This record gives sequence, C-alpha cells and structure tokens, in this order.
Amino acid sequence: MNIAANPVVEADQTVYLKDYQKPSFVVDSIDLDIQVFDDHTNVNAKLVMQRQTAGDLVLLGRDLELKSIRLNGQVLPADAYVVDAEQLVISNAPDQAVIETEVVIHPESNTQLEGLYQAAGDLFVTQNEPEGFRKITYYPDRPDVLSVFTTRVEADKKFPVLLANGNLIEAGETGEGRHYTVWQDPTKKPSYLFACVIGDLAVLKDSYVTSEGRNVALEIYAEEKDIPKCHIAMEALKHSMRWDEEHYGRPYDLDNYMIVATSAFNMGAMENKGLNIFNTSCVLADEEYTTDAAIMRVQSVIAHEYFHNWTGNRITCRDWFQLCLKEGLTVFRDQSFSEDLQSAAVQRIDDVAVLKAHQFPEDSGPLSHPPRPDHFVEINNFYTATVYEKGAEINRMMATLLGKEKFRAGTDEYFKRHDGQAVTVEDWVAALTAGSGVDLSSFLIWYNQPGTPKLEAKGEYDAANQTYTLSLKQSLKAHPKYPNLKAVPIPVALALFDATSGEQLVLSSNALVENGIKDGVYLFDTDTATITFSGVKTQPVVSLLRNFSAPVDLEFNYSDAELAFLMQYEPNGFNQWQASQTLLERILLNGHDADIYVQAIQNTLPALVERDPLLASRLFDVPTEGYLGSRIDTDYSPAKVQEQREALLSRVARELGSFFKETYATLDPDAQKEFSQAMGVRALKNIMLSMMARQGDASVFELAYEQFSSTGNMSERLGALKVLVWNDAPQAQQALEAFYTRFKNEALSMDQWFMLQAAHPKATAETIKALTTHPDYDLKVPNRIRAVTGGLNSNPVNTWSFGVQHIVELAKFLDEKNPIVGSRLLQILSRWYTLAEPQRSEVKAKLEALKPVVKSKNVSETLNSMLSV
Ligand code: TRP
Ligand code: ZN
Repeated sequence: MNIAANPVVEADQTVYLKDYQKPSFVVDSIDLDIQVFDDHTNVNAKLVMQRQTAGDLVLLGRDLELKSIRLNGQVLPADAYVVDAEQLVISNAPDQAVIETEVVIHPESNTQLEGLYQAAGDLFVTQNEPEGFRKITYYPDRPDVLSVFTTRVEADKKFPVLLANGNLIEAGETGEGRHYTVWQDPTKKPSYLFACVIGDLAVLKDSYVTSEGRNVALEIYAEEKDIPKCHIAMEALKHSMRWDEEHYGRPYDLDNYMIVATSAFNMGAMENKGLNIFNTSCVLADEEYTTDAAIMRVQSVIAHEYFHNWTGNRITCRDWFQLCLKEGLTVFRDQSFSEDLQSAAVQRIDDVAVLKAHQFPEDSGPLSHPPRPDHFVEINNFYTATVYEKGAEINRMMATLLGKEKFRAGTDEYFKRHDGQAVTVEDWVAALTAGSGVDLSSFLIWYNQPGTPKLEAKGEYDAANQTYTLSLKQSLKAHPKYPNLKAVPIPVALALFDATSGEQLVLSSNALVENGIKDGVYLFDTDTATITFSGVKTQPVVSLLRNFSAPVDLEFNYSDAELAFLMQYEPNGFNQWQASQTLLERILLNGHDADIYVQAIQNTLPALVERDPLLASRLFDVPTEGYLGSRIDTDYSPAKVQEQREALLSRVARELGSFFKETYATLDPDAQKEFSQAMGVRALKNIMLSMMARQGDASVFELAYEQFSSTGNMSERLGALKVLVWNDAPQAQQALEAFYTRFKNEALSMDQWFMLQAAHPKATAETIKALTTHPDYDLKVPNRIRAVTGGLNSNPVNTWSFGVQHIVELAKFLDEKNPIVGSRLLQILSRWYTLAEPQRSEVKAKLEALKPVVKSKNVSETLNSMLSV
C-alpha cells in the first residue's frame, strides 16, 4: 500500500522529518454536516479536491464507521479504495475529485478527549490539534492542507448552543425537537483548527473595534453560575487584541471571536479559528474562587490563544515537526504581554523558574529532544517544555539581539511573506533575517540540537593594568542520536559594578566596540572567547546573562560574597533573584555556608518589602526540592535534599523571626492600588505565616485560622489553609471541612483542596488513597487527576516512594482511557535513573513491569525512551 502522501510511517511507527512530502491532493472546500444524537453522531462530508502532485489520494481516518463513499457523484466500488485503521486510499483518483462520505462516530463514549467528545452531560466539544480531525471524518488531516470550511451542526434542542468556526449564515428547525446552524469560515485553515460546540451554556458578551475599524463581537461561553468569573478573561482578550495591534501591527480578521470553557480538557486551551476552546482553569478567574497565580495564568493563556490567530492560524506549520514555529513564537509573545501586565522582572523570574524546573530537567534526561525534533512516534508526546519554553527562548534571543525596531521589521516581513501559508522554522528565520538585515541563520542550530548548553565563565581583574578579562567557554553533553553538536550563538547580556559603591560601571565606548558589545549584549558564538575591558579602576563585580539572555546553564567563578553583592545591588530584578538562587544552590547542594545568604536577605528584604512587595516575595524563593533534585545526576537521595532545605528554611525562620512577625501584622493587600502589588503583599503574608509556623509557636495557627476564615480572597485562604494542614494544626480538619462546605460545587477551588492535601509533606499512600477514592475524585477530568498527582509530586520524597506506584497505576489506566494525559503523567518519573540504590532499581522494576501492558503509542513511546538510558 502506498502511504507516501503522509510522512512515511515505518514498521516501527517512527515518522521522520526528512521524509516530508507535499500532499498529492489539496482541498479547495469542505462541507461538513454533523448530527449529534444521544448514542451516536452522523458526520457527512463533501471534499472538493484537486491534484497537486502525482500519487494516491489519501484520506486519514481513525475509529470511523464508514457508511458510504462517493467519488464525483458515483458510489465508489469497494475495489476502488483500500481502507485500514488509519486511512482510506484511492489509487487512481482523477485530478479533480469530489469525495462525499458518510460516517458514524461515538463522541458519547470518547474518553480520550480528542476529536469530537462529550465533555459533560450537556456539552460536546472538539479538540483536533494535532491529529483529532481524523476521528471526525476522512480527511487529509495534516497542517499543510488548507481549506474553506462550511459546517452544519444539528442536535436536539436541549442543546441550545450550536457553534462552529466563522460566520453564522443560517439557523433553523428540522422537526422532532431538533435544530441546526450553518457556519462558514471565510479563511482557509488546516483541519486541526476546526472546532464545533454543541451544548447548554450561558454567554458573556462584549465587543471590540479593531485598528482597522472592524467591529468584533466577543463571546465567552460557560456554565451559567460561572459567567461572573469570565470578566477578567474578557478584559484580557480585549487587552490582547490591542496589544497585538500596537506591538506587532496585527489586527483581528473576523467579525466574531468566541471562547468556550469546559472542565474536560487535556491541556490548557486551543486556538481554533475564531472559536477557542479552553480548559475552565484557563478562563475562570475570580479572586474569591481562584488564586492570584491562576488569575495571571488565565490572562496569559487568553493572550496566548489570541496571538495564535496570527502566529499559528494565518501562518501555520508545514508539518508537526515545526510545532515550535507556532508555539515558541506564541509563548514568547504571551510572555512579553504578561511582562506588560505585571512587573517585567517578576514575569521573567516566573518564566525562567518554569524553564529551569521543567525544561532543563527534560533536556538533561532520556526525553531530551531538539526544539524542532527530527523524528517521533506520537506527536502528542512533543507538546513539551522544550518545544514551548525553549522555543520561546530562541525567539527571545533573536529579539534581544535585534532590538525592538529590527525585530519588528523582521516580524513584519514574516507576516508579509507567509500570510495564508504553512511554513517551516527556516522560513521564519529567513524572514527575520531579510526584514532586519541581520543574518540570524546560525540560530537554526538552536532549533536542531538537544541539550542545555553549559556556559563556563571566568573573570579576572588585573589591578596593575586596570583590565578585567572575561573568558567564556560553551559545551554540550554528548547525545547518542545527535553526534555533531555545534556551538550555538549565545547572547550574553552583562554589566559591571563597582564592588565598593555598588554603582554600575560606565564602560568606555571604545572598550565596548573592541569587544563587540552592543546595548549591553555580547554575542558569544564560538567554542571559546575572551573579552577584555580596559580602564577598569577598581575590582568589579560582573553580572552575566542579565534577564536570562540565553537558556544556558551558567557556571561562573563568583565568590559567594559577589552573589550576595548582586542580590543587594543589581538593579536588574531578574539577576537579583538569579544571584540568590545560585547562592542557595551552592548552600543546598554543595554545602556552602549559609551565613552570607542570611546576611544578604537581612540587608535587602526589609527595604524591598516596602518598595516592591511582588519582587520581594520572589526574593524569598528557595529552590524547590524537585528543582534541586533535577540538578543531581547520580546517587540522588530525595531525603537528603529535603533535610538540607528544611534546615535552611528553619534557620531563616529563626533569624528573621521577629521581622516576619512584625511585618505580617502590617501587610495589607487592600492598601495596594495595583493588582500585581496586592498579589505581592498576599504572597509575602503567606510566606511570613509559614515561616512563623516553623518556629513552632501555636499562636500562629490562630493567626492562620483567622486569615483563613476572614478573607474573601482565595490566595489568602489557601495560604492559611496550607499552614494549618501541612503543620497538622489542631484547626486543620475544621478548616478543610469548612472549605469543602463552601466550595464543593466549584471544581477549580476543589482542585486546590485536593492538591493541598496531596501536597502534605507527610502524605502517605493512605492519604492518596483517601483522596482518589473520595466521591469528588473523577478520573474523567484531567484537572482533578493532575491536582492530586501534581500535589503529591511537590514532595519528591513522596513521589519516589509510594508515589511511583500511584503514577504507574495511573499510567496503566490512562493508557487505554486517555493516553495523552497518561503519557504526560508518566514523564514525572523520567529521572528515575538518577536515584541512589536501592530506590533506582525498585523504580526501574516498576517501569519495566509496565512495558508489556501498555498499548498506546503515547505511553509506550514515553516509556521506551525513559528506559533507554
Ligand atoms: N495549541 C494548543 C496551545 O495553545 C495546545 C493544545 C491544546 C494541545 N490542546 C491540545 C496540544 C491537545 C495537544 C493536544 O498551545
Ligand atoms: Zn499554543
């Protein structure tokens, strides 16, 4: 059978980038008719296709019951096509082919949450990225086939809302209590951006006028009781629309923009053209029910999906290997948007913290892959931190290097060249290069190589000659599948400070020109380099990778005192934070003395708490046990890491005890004008409360209970509840029950309730059992599963003991029911091989035992990679 029109599927099921071939047929238009019934759904499709190159006509389809197929009006005889579990192939199709099919599907029993599925009793939604559309109808379901969609949706009137992409052109009744709508999307799009929604939902409406004067109707659909929680998302949507006009010159292109919220969703949200579908966790925001962090996330995901309209939808990916083309760029755009929403430094801190906690470990273990992979078995396994977050960093590096104006000239060129096309990472870098006039082609190396580069730096001051010399060296860990690793271009943003006054040294423009430093950035793109600054009159302290100018692992021969200096004097808030994190890593992992650190926070924080509570709250960050564990490659003992970290926290609690006590009483979030600063004050209050609890003073529990019961704000309430529950305070049970009674009908709040208990440092297998057998636990809702498993995983000591069994069982169950989520959860265990014995062998045996029982491509690919170390 000829399957060449789809990237070749080898016997071992691996798909390779190098095998890409253009589709032999394009689709000029598709008419879809979707009729939903209680126990099945009929899908009729009419595809107007045209030959583009030689080859078979290939339609992809999975789990479809084919009722009939016609070609150019004639019933296609059974011997004119070959159909198997994955596709339908017509070998001698004419150059003009109109294909009409009738299939039956079963959204009511679809537990994978992919294709069309019943998300709740009164709601059906779609999720088609990357390959869900083939579960709705036979179609060349690949991103380089763009077509005009006309969609008719028909269902019982108990579902008043019938939505699809584009403009509503017709609506009516069909008798027998049923009705229908017809939608036409004027823009050509790939099938992964198709969406429809059938349900009983309420709606929040607003409108927006674009810079071009287009009036856009905005609608957010959610359950009636949740409509009041949709206002923050609506404001964020309008803000995003304006932001994209102002920063990228990109106005919206349709007359409506709809968002639908569902609790049954595998990921955060989906950018379907004009009809986004969102996890409720990324739409509903209200300080009474959701935390400050969740509110920030809602705003950034709303922006992310909106920004996809240009970077993803109007310009899409040629094939799924190019996923980071749309995701890396769109994450970079949403991060920049969020930097404008709150403090830019804190947003950068939060984004880099995510990168270091998830992407760095992924890239240093068995699941490591380039931002643009060159092979995969299951594409769903590549919606990773590397594709998203490292992808965003590559774009940020190019933007940093170009500066605002040239970067904008580059993106303008990209939109001009490729609007309406399905393109590659090469096309993106070439357009940026052409538009900016700066050759960026060496950045392609970043896209094609796995691993976090190590950047070793040494600084030396020569007092006699008044020179300061910085030597740089980059290296990558060898990777079996990528033997020819090359040096990457690393923009190093840097500044020098006077070690005595703390003032930034103004370097002579000569010194800068000689070293090729522009706007404080040195481009390091060779294996080694040395730069020398002349006329440096006193011993300087250098601050490297300011704002985290490149996603590398920096090793610099700082003294601890220099790090403490930067914590105090570096005006770049991000590097201030980075200095404290580096110092803490040395204390917690390399046994450095904590005195200097404690002294530095004593010197820095009281003033900062006054001036910038949000940044101050981050300067209290102590790397999590999970992050610290990910920095250890062999003989990792989670218990030892915990012991070190606990000892440090207790010391800080003791030495700053009176500061915490006095400050807690004065902190008033309501006195802050800005939401972001109020959020900072709340974060500080919670930090101080938990620090006070460390000193074992029982009166703290009364304070915590007071905070818990008197507040109307979820961050304050949860912060206090944590202190009570995690310290087994006498009030803990009462507080948990009170929370339950108040929020039991609020799924997102209940997720927090589950998570918090699973995250108890002394949780046991019984704790997890009690939570997973609780009547409100629901294996059909990924959010609830993630709440418990994620909570558990916040304590690596627990993850690597009884947690392993929990995760392995879950992966086994989900392998059949929801393999996308199963595969992702299993990845929590990917660094098993770093454990000290006997734990290492015990976990390995459990993973080995899973191998013969899992069937999905998703879980088996992940498991095979995990065991391949
Ligand atoms: N494209 C989505 C985004 O904005 C990602 C996504 C949503 C997704 N749902 C999915 C990916 C389901 C795979 C499967 O990032
Ligand atoms: Zn995205």
